[in-house]
This record gives sequence, C-alpha cells and structure tokens, in this order.
Amino acid sequence: MADPAHLPIPRRGTLEGPRIRLRPPEPGDLSLLFRWLNDPEAIAPWDRFEVESYRALEEALHHAPEDDLSLAPRFLMLRKPEDVPIGVVGYFSSYRALDTMDVWYAITLRDQRGQGLGSEAVELLVDYLFSHRMLERVGATTDVENPASVRLLEKLGFRREGTLRRALFHHGTWHDVAVFGRTRSEWSGDPGH
Ligand SMILES: CC(C)(COP(=O)(O)OP(=O)(O)OC[C@H]1O[C@@H](n2cnc3c(N)ncnc32)[C@H](O)[C@@H]1OP(=O)(O)O)[C@@H](O)C(=O)NCCC(=O)NCCS
Repeated sequence: MADPAHLPIPRRGTLEGPRIRLRPPEPGDLSLLFRWLNDPEAIAPWDRFEVESYRALEEALHHAPEDDLSLAPRFLMLRKPEDVPIGVVGYFSSYRALDTMDVWYAITLRDQRGQGLGSEAVELLVDYLFSHRMLERVGATTDVENPASVRLLEKLGFRREGTLRRALFHHGTWHDVAVFGRTRSEWSGDPGH
C-alpha cells in the first residue's frame, strides 16, 4: 500500500530520441526538482519558476496529469546513454478559452546547453502533443531577449506570431514576450491535414 504521507505521481510513458529520453517525474526526483526549480541559476536569467514548498511540488506533480493548466514539469530530460537528468519540459493549456497548448523547457545543467539537446527534447514533446492530443496548434512564449529559446523555436519551425509587450516580470523589471506557434500541418508537412 502506498505511504499516505506521500502522494503518488501517476505514471505515463517515456519519449525516446537519439540522445534524449523524456521520462515522467518519479518520487525519487522530488528533491532534485525542488532544488532546480528554486535555483535562479538553473532556470534564470530568462524566466522565473518557483515552488513554495516541497509539499506544494509533490502535490503539483501528483495533480498535473489531470490538469492541463498545470505548470509543473511533465517530463525530466535525461541524457542517454547514462540517463543523466539535465533538465525539464512541460506543457500547459495557455489560454483557457482556446484549444492550444504551450510547451516550456529548461536545461538546468548549464554545461549541457548549446549541444542540440534542448531542440531534441522540445521536438519530442511537440511530437507527443500532436500525436496524443486533438490540437491544431502548439505554442510557446519566450522573453524576446532569450536568444537560445527564440532560435530553438525558429529552428523547430515555430512561427513568430506576435509580441506581448511588458507581459513578464522577472529580475526586477518588465519584459516583452514573443509568441510562437506551430500548426499541425506545419508539423506533419501535410498542408491538407
Ligand atoms: C533554451 C534552451 C532550452 C535551449 O536548449 P539548448 O540545448 O541550449 O539549445 P540547442 O543547442 O538545441 O540550440 C538551438 C538553437 O539555438 C542556438 N543557440 C543555443 N544557445 C544559444 C545562445 N546562448 N545564443 C544564441 N543562440 C543560441 C543554437 O545555435 C541552435 O541554433 P542553430 O542550430 O541554428 O545553430 C537552453 O538554453 C536553456 O535551458 N536555457 C535556460 C532556460 C530557458 O531559457 N528556457 C526557456 C524559457 S522560455
């Protein structure tokens, strides 16, 4: 029987790429995730992610599979072949009144950035969303001053759809945010789809 002091995290499958495996969080990942999500050096300088308490993270991971609005990490990014955890990715229903999902992503081990691993992980996540969900669009937003994130999205075929001015507050000031989207037909390469 499960320990009632610990909330179980519902299980989902893993997603496999050549160098990256995306695996849903497990109870043994909690302390690592808690450390990462509270470490401004791991996620910063482009964004702000935080969790109030260990228990709040545990609850967020427990409820996330049934909650499309959840910003909790959906998968750990593991680098093959040793399966070293290097980051996290997530998705969430970005506009409550619309039928679209946004992806988010962070390589928390800085020395693992700039090697194409983030692109691989985000593409796996996009494949997963278009394959498993009735979506016509997958989106992403990023600080306009985050060149790695902007370039990653452009490289994967996301189109810049606009700018949300002064939409994100972090590090003591307001930032403009670029809105990107990729449609199902752009993903599949089939204009009739
Ligand atoms: C954004 C992030 C996930 C990108 O992952 P990554 O593995 O470093 O990116 P990739 O190696 O796949 O590179 C993707 C593209 O961006 C370019 N790029 C990577 N880092 C860059 C940088 N610092 N400046 C400019 N371009 C950069 C790459 O050259 C590549 O483009 P190319 O193939 O045309 O050369 C990673 O840098 C990160 O975790 N940053 C901190 C967290 C964050 O900003 N998350 C996004 C919040 S919206």
